[in-house]
Amino acid sequence: MAKKTFNIVTLPGDGIGPDIVKQAVKVINRIGEIYGYDFKITEKRMGGIAIDMDGCSLPQDTIDAALASDAVLLGAVGGPKWDNLPNGDRPEKGLLGIRGALKLYANLRPAVLYPQLQHTSPLKAEIIGDGLDILVVRELTGGMYFGEKANSPKFNPENKDCWASDLEKYSVFEIERILKTGFEAAQKRNHKLCCVHKANVLESSRLWRAVFDRVKKNYPDVETSEMYVDNCAMQLVRNPRQFDVIVTSNIFGDILTDEASQVAGSIGMLASASLGAGTLGLYEPIHGSAPDIAGKNLANPLATILSVPMMFRYSLGLMKEADAIDKAVMDVLNAGYRTGDIFNKDLDDASKKVGTEEMGDLVVKALK
Ligand code: IPM
Ligand code: MG
Repeated sequence: MAKKTFNIVTLPGDGIGPDIVKQAVKVINRIGEIYGYDFKITEKRMGGIAIDMDGCSLPQDTIDAALASDAVLLGAVGGPKWDNLPNGDRPEKGLLGIRGALKLYANLRPAVLYPQLQHTSPLKAEIIGDGLDILVVRELTGGMYFGEKANSPKFNPENKDCWASDLEKYSVFEIERILKTGFEAAQKRNHKLCCVHKANVLESSRLWRAVFDRVKKNYPDVETSEMYVDNCAMQLVRNPRQFDVIVTSNIFGDILTDEASQVAGSIGMLASASLGAGTLGLYEPIHGSAPDIAGKNLANPLATILSVPMMFRYSLGLMKEADAIDKAVMDVLNAGYRTGDIFNKDLDDASKKVGTEEMGDLVVKALK
């Protein structure tokens, strides 16, 4: 019988991107061997590397391949080299462009503190308790990221009359569909959903709150709350364990997920999924491209490796294979292996320091 085939596009990107994506690909290929699937993996360019080689951060060929695939795995994009290009292109534009082109409106960002890595959270033990497991559902293709951009005819920081604006605009349709993602995620977890907004000041947030008040009636099994974004930023460090699922706008979600990731310890451990209306999704670690440690075998590949089980669950329907990867990562952590970012001999005496490649190999070996 022919093996089931899955088409995966990888976008290693810049900095440590290629180092970590390579490890995740090893894991995918090993799953193919054990469980009998044919993973067709096609590498494409996006970000700074695409600016250098193709002249733009998101080549059409990359969009076409991604659209034709079952799922996309991204490393990271960006670096100082591409910060001030004369044509205004930036690696980050590629990322926003692919989110838009694939219509990936829902960004799921779990902030999980693994029991073996308690020491990596900067919060006191009494606040962090026996761990942390929050899911932030961030709207990804609306708000000021994609709203109308405008500036006065000449962009000139010396001229006091010069102005610039980014429009924070949301439709009921956009709010409703991301709230639905939030409610459905809460139903699969601890049945709690907090909608984060700034309705004491912003019209767009008042619409979010009003739609939330209406939609929540359809989910009587979910305990709901709402919170101003400034208060949420505080509550995430004061008492993060009050949260199960948080749903919020693009810009608020961007900011709160960086905060949540630190509360949950190392940013090197956190995966994410960006989803649209169908099964096609883009999966990536939430950390950046860390150009200073690129190619030095120092980066933690676990956030990228942990993006694979998300891909398997949301895009490929490979549930037991997803569980197998999660379990392999747990086994490697339980055995004490740590990359530099999660290594602390004083607080974690079982720990053994390993590099990027070795960590990838350990997970591959632990797969069953
Ligand atoms: C993120 C990043 C991106 C964003 C940047 C790189 C465009 O910060 O994925 O959180 O702001 O969405
Ligand atoms: Mg961000």
